[in-house]
Amino acid sequence: MKGKFIVLEGPDRCGKSTQAKLLVNHLTSLGKDVILTREPGGTPTAEQIRKIVLQPGLDVRPMAELFLYEASRAQHTQEKILPALEAGKIVICERYTMSTAAYQGYGRGIDLDMIDTLNRIATLETKPDLTLVFLMSDKYFVKRGEYLFSDRLEQEDAAFRQKMRKGYLDLINQTPHAYLINADQTIEDIQHRVLELLKETHITD
Ligand SMILES: Nc1ncnc2c1ncn2[C@@H]1O[C@H](COP(=O)(O)OP(=O)(O)OP(=O)(O)O)[C@@H](O)[C@H]1O
Ligand SMILES: [Mg+2]
Repeated sequence: MKGKFIVLEGPDRCGKSTQAKLLVNHLTSLGKDVILTREPGGTPTAEQIRKIVLQPGLDVRPMAELFLYEASRAQHTQEKILPALEAGKIVICERYTMSTAAYQGYGRGIDLDMIDTLNRIATLETKPDLTLVFLMSDKYFVKRGEYLFSDRLEQEDAAFRQKMRKGYLDLINQTPHAYLINADQTIEDIQHRVLELLKETHITD
């Protein structure tokens, strides 16, 4: 493949969108041909699937949810990611296969080998050249964003977030070219680390 595929991963509100935009701006200012995209979604069909999967209150069972994510991914990969990579572009994508392993696997307890198989099918074995995983500690999570939690919800969420954090750490160890980035830092320090990693890996040279 001529282009490069960079995936930004991590739990909700860890700063993926913020860093994705900064990265796109940086690479564009260097004259690189970059596209920014996201999952679930990224194409009209996949965005329709996103609406179903993220609609509050809709009854979507875990296995159906898994297949919806993979359906979105299959469409997105074939329609947008692969053509862009073949055209030599840098593709920056918020969330990809690692999110499904983290949420549906570690989070909901669906078999990880099965998720891996479905991920391979949906992606046509397309693998990121670089995966940046943003993880922050819980005390920062509660401060960020516009939500206010009740104590009970906050505690339940803390246990779930702990499980997700462990999942992401395992996945970083198992995934080639995946790096942990400490998302407790300021936006500027995190961006600095992202750019350092690009240099070290020569991914956009
Ligand atoms: N390093 C940081 N320090 C403090 N606040 C931050 C930092 N990075 C992002 N934020 C803020 O935290 C919130 C979540 O950031 P952002 O939307 O980039 O996260 P995200 O990972 O894309 O979230 P989601 O999973 O919901 O898409 C935003 O209000 C953003 O401005
Ligand atoms: Mg986001």
